[in-house]
Amino acid sequence: MPVGKHIIFGDAGKELGLLLKDSDVVIITDANVNGIYGDKLFGNAKVIVLGIGERTKTLRTIDRIYSKLIEYKTDRHSVIIAVGGGIVCDTAGFAAATFKRGTGLVLVPTTLLAQADAAIGGKNGVNVSGFKNLAGTFRQPDRTIIDTKFLKTLARKNFNNGTAEIIKTAAIYDSAFFNSLERKALFELTGKQLETVIRKTVGIKNAIVRDDPEEKGIRKILNFGHTIGHALELNLNRMRHGEAVSVGMAAACAISQKLAGFTLEESLRVDNVLKLNRLPVKIPELLSVAKLMESVVQDKKKSGCSLDFVLLESIGHPVIKRLEIKVIEGIINDIR
Ligand SMILES: NC(=O)c1ccc[n+]([C@@H]2O[C@H](COP(=O)([O-])OP(=O)(O)OC[C@H]3O[C@@H](n4cnc5c(N)ncnc54)[C@H](O)[C@@H]3O)[C@@H](O)[C@H]2O)c1
Repeated sequence: MPVGKHIIFGDAGKELGLLLKDSDVVIITDANVNGIYGDKLFGNAKVIVLGIGERTKTLRTIDRIYSKLIEYKTDRHSVIIAVGGGIVCDTAGFAAATFKRGTGLVLVPTTLLAQADAAIGGKNGVNVSGFKNLAGTFRQPDRTIIDTKFLKTLARKNFNNGTAEIIKTAAIYDSAFFNSLERKALFELTGKQLETVIRKTVGIKNAIVRDDPEEKGIRKILNFGHTIGHALELNLNRMRHGEAVSVGMAAACAISQKLAGFTLEESLRVDNVLKLNRLPVKIPELLSVAKLMESVVQDKKKSGCSLDFVLLESIGHPVIKRLEIKVIEGIINDIR
């Protein structure tokens, strides 16, 4: 499957060197990435360093970025280069889409989640009043540079956020790709093998996004595991995104068994790939199913009693069904 033309797998140092030479560039990064890679990669470039974590992804940070861009005399011909994880890519992408109605944008994702998911697809969002990604834009980057060498310095807990999204992508779209993930945990792969996995994941996400750039239909299948996953994240501060999506996928598989003809054998295969990668599959005991479902409804900002839910008919074949909240709750109670 062809990867989008603007996506390059290669040496970020070399690509950044060329961009810094030829264009008016402003780099946006975060404090960790700047600490590890700043001296080596950024030279004398204009750099905006963001704080760490989800609390950075706000309109306040965007306002700070705009001020810096004014100071740097950035215009529509300038290029913003985001070098960092999903938080940097989302925030810099939002700034590039809106500052003076749009500057150039290059993404250099440095986490597995950003390389396989967040930097692909042209969506970016910032959090508003505690709601995740409430304000956002659709803006395809002019170029995305993926260099797996960055992943060598990434902590396992951050690496696994990307693992969950890669397993999700295979499960909803490509059974042969899913089979290949059953052999070895992603954290055990060599750089080259990992690059192959990321290429595959990016190709699939690109194909889905190409068919539905503004998430009006098919793109919704990318939410597999995320309905329960987001509700877990809302309740359990310490649960990481990848862990929450992992548990969410296991729950969606159980629901698929009851309502979409997904077999027990396939459900166990999904569980086993998640466990192979040391991802959890059980809803933590300390959270009641009733509380979890309250958050599902709240997260979807739904007042009604049903919602669209991504299920699997088989590995590689998703289906979106409208499900009653009570039905979901009943099945989750059964698998507890
Ligand atoms: N726009 C989209 O389509 C999309 C899709 C999925 C996720 N997201 C967003 O992505 C965000 C999460 O992204 P993330 O998981 O990359 O988190 P992140 O950006 O917070 O990065 C995780 C941590 O790793 C550090 N880090 C980054 N690269 C590193 C490296 N090479 N070596 C060492 N440390 C490094 C960061 O400083 C941070 O502490 C969320 O806000 C989510 O909403 C967006």
